[in-house]
Order: sequence, then C-alpha cells, then structure tokens
Amino acid sequence: MKPKKTNIAPASGRLALLLPGMGAVATTLIAGVEAIRRGLAPPIGSVTQMGRIRLGKRTEGRSPLVKELVPLAALEDVRFGGWDVFPDSAYDSAVHAKVLEPDLLEQLREPLSAVKPMPAVFAPEYVKRLHGTHVKKGKSKLELGEMLRADIRAFMKAEGCERAVMLWCASTEVYIEPSAVHGDLAAFEKALAKSDPAIAPSMIYAWAALKEGVPFANGAPNLTVDVPALQQLAKEQRVPVAGKDFKTGQTLMKTTIAPMLKARMLGLQGWFSTNILGNRDGEVLDDPGSFKTKEVSKLSVLEHILQPKLYPDLYGHFDHKVTIHYYPPRADNKEGWDAIDIVGWLGYPMQIKVNFQCRDSILAAPVALDIALFMDLAARAGMKGIQEWLSFYFKSPMHAEGLYPEHDLFIQQSKLKNTLRHLAGEELITHLGLDYYESEA
Ligand SMILES: NC(=O)c1ccc[n+]([C@@H]2O[C@H](COP(=O)([O-])OP(=O)(O)OC[C@H]3O[C@@H](n4cnc5c(N)ncnc54)[C@H](O)[C@@H]3O)[C@@H](O)[C@H]2O)c1
Repeated sequence: MKPKKTNIAPASGRLALLLPGMGAVATTLIAGVEAIRRGLAPPIGSVTQMGRIRLGKRTEGRSPLVKELVPLAALEDVRFGGWDVFPDSAYDSAVHAKVLEPDLLEQLREPLSAVKPMPAVFAPEYVKRLHGTHVKKGKSKLELGEMLRADIRAFMKAEGCERAVMLWCASTEVYIEPSAVHGDLAAFEKALAKSDPAIAPSMIYAWAALKEGVPFANGAPNLTVDVPALQQLAKEQRVPVAGKDFKTGQTLMKTTIAPMLKARMLGLQGWFSTNILGNRDGEVLDDPGSFKTKEVSKLSVLEHILQPKLYPDLYGHFDHKVTIHYYPPRADNKEGWDAIDIVGWLGYPMQIKVNFQCRDSILAAPVALDIALFMDLAARAGMKGIQEWLSFYFKSPMHAEGLYPEHDLFIQQSKLKNTLRHLAGEELITHLGLDYYESEA
C-alpha cells in the first residue's frame, strides 16, 4: 500500500525571508539569489535548487528534482528584509564583506541597494566586539520584541508577502546556559517584561517571529530558540523551529570523515582542528565569550558520532582540540587544518591531514537558502516545533529531550530525503535491496 501524501498548502504568493544580521552570509545569500534569478550564475551547493531524489526501486529510473517532488517557494517569489546594527544596505555590506567580486556586485547594485536593514535589537554585552549604532531603543525587552513584531508585519504588508521565515544570520552571541527564565513560556515572558539579562537579543527576535507565526531558524550557535520556553511557544503557535549553527567548512568535513572511521572500526587518538579567518565573524569570535559558544558547537560532534561509551577501545581516550584565529588578510577565505591521528589493525598509528581552503559565506549561502525554503515547506505541511530532519544543515542540531543529536552527515541526509518522500506520499528507502535478488524459481 502506498503511504499517504501529506496535505501541503501550495507555495503561492510571496515569501519574506527575514534576516537578523545582514553581514557576509546574508548578503552572499541575497546577492546569490538575485544573480541566479538573472541567470548570471548557477545555484551550486543548494539541494533545493539542484538536488534530485530517487523514488521507488532502482529499476524504475525515477529521480525528480527535489523541487519537483515537493512544493517549494520559487526564487522569484522571495523578498529579502532584515535588521542590522549598522545601517549599510545589502550592497554596501556585501562590498565591505569582500566575498563576491566587485564585477558581480556592480551588476546587482540596484536590487542590493534596495535592501536596507531595519534598526536592530542589540545588547553589547552579548557581542562584545561590535559597536553598532543602528539600534532600537525601548523601555523593556518586551517592548523591543513588540517593535520587531511590528517590523515583521510592516515588511510583509509593504512587500505583499503571504508568508515569512526568519533566519538568524547575525553575530555569535556569548555563551550562556539555559536557566529558569528559559524554562517555560510564562517565566520567559515575565523575564522579557523585566528585561532580565538572561534574555539574549536573538531570543527576542525568535520570540517576535514565533508570536507572528513565522518559522525561526538559527544559523549561529547561540542558545536562542533551543530552550523549552520558545519551543513551547513554537508548538502553541504551530510553527517550525530549527538550528543551530550552519554546518559549512570544517565540521562538514568532520561529520563526513568521522562516520567513515567508525564504519570501518578504525580507532582515533586525536583530532586537532585549527582555522584562520579574517572577516567580521572572525573578529567577533576573537572574543572569548563568543568563541566559547562556537567551541561548544564544534566540539560536540565527535562524541556523538563515535560513541566512546559503546566503543571504549577505539574512541575511549581521544583528544579533540578546536581553535579559530582571527587573521584579517584572509577575510572570508577561511583556511582550516585538521590533523587526525588514527589507529588501524593491531594498533598501528596512521595520520590523515585535511587542508580546506574554503570560502565561508560561499559555503553558507546555499545552506541558508535551503533551510529557509524547507522551513517554509514545513510550515505549509503543518509541521511544528523542532525540525530534526534539517539536522543535515547544522553543526549542533536541535533535538527532542531525551534523544542524542544525529551528527553523521549521511544519516542526516537519509533523514532529510526520507522526510521529503514521506511528505510526498512515496515509499521510504531502506537500501535493503534483497528483493532485487529474490526470484520465484
Ligand atoms: N559563514 C559560515 O560558514 C558560517 C558557518 C556557521 C555559522 N555562521 C554564523 O553565521 C553568522 C553570520 O556570519 P557572517 O560571516 O555573516 O558574520 P558577519 O559578522 O559578516 O555578519 C553578522 C552581522 O550581524 C550583525 N549583528 C550582530 N548582532 C546583531 C543583532 N543583535 N541584530 C541584528 N544584527 C546583528 C552584525 O552587525 C553583522 O553585520 C555568525 O554568527 C557566524 O558564526 C557562519
């Protein structure tokens, strides 16, 4: 019997893509979508734009594009809005970020100049290296949240948008642990009204989005929506949430190589990871509080993939170090090194070296686009709360209480694809494949 197709509202009308933080990632995303719309470049790196998905048996030859299988918003229907602590338009911010060639930016000057950030909700104690001036003033954090809600409504009205998604692309905030004020919605809203210091600016944006019925995803490692209070609000409002921290360079590599080591029962003695990065993100991460947030996000992946408790002989004692060095000459062109000390048959040591000379925002932009379009799909499909099937895109995937996060890129990919098949009423693929070899005779 064929599985039941999920009732998904059509992707008709315009979609507002609301971006707190209009820096390197956000402007590379906006410029990229504008370039793709004009046929100036292909959407490389985007699963929603280029990916195909196998359906049915291998003998059936059915592999439609993902966007043919499920109804996704068309790029032509996306309208960009956002907030930043600097008043620069997306054009000026993209010029400052130096990710894209001046030639391309010049061709996109008009649409990018039209995207101007709204004044931000900002607290310097949460991002110590920034001194922005383009910020809202309010009597309380609750009032600031209400201002963001008014911004969302005004933007959607002005741009004629029927739906919206908010995607945090702003700086990494300092590390905080969940506390009582994040424990349930009533405590959270009380704390908002009292401007409790434990309510981070990113949480105010998330609260405002959810109150407006707008899905919220977090591209940075901040706690933000990963607290019971905001998850309760997401469920009550029947809105999807996802996060945290775009999985782009070194962690993408790590969550690809570590599953291979485990699949072949190769041991690990140590994994030394370091990066040099010279953009504003690198500058913000030079502050120990913001780095701690990133470090926790980057360190968690190996423990969960390698399961040292289940495999103490192979993974019981490995060293894992991660550092990021702010090095301005490299700007957005991050370079990451991994020195991996592994152990093989009879305990013989071996080494793997990875030198990834990447471009941070070039890797992040298609991930940001996919997350936004899939979050909109989830909302139209009536999916609410944590969207674990989007773990594929995150360094620290959000997960239900009592579960461990799934970090293995290939398990994450199966989860993503099977969720799409499930939504479309197609058979899930288990890769068992015995039926190809069973004959009647
Ligand atoms: N590029 C990647 O590969 C990658 C991967 C994972 C996570 N991230 C995260 O994505 C985020 C964006 O990265 P980026 O390279 O674009 O950084 P960026 O510094 O270029 O841009 C961040 C922008 O956010 C603004 N900002 C800070 N606080 C704000 C607030 N409260 N409200 C509104 N705007 C605010 C800053 O002024 C800045 O313009 C960072 O948190 C980064 O750690 C990036």
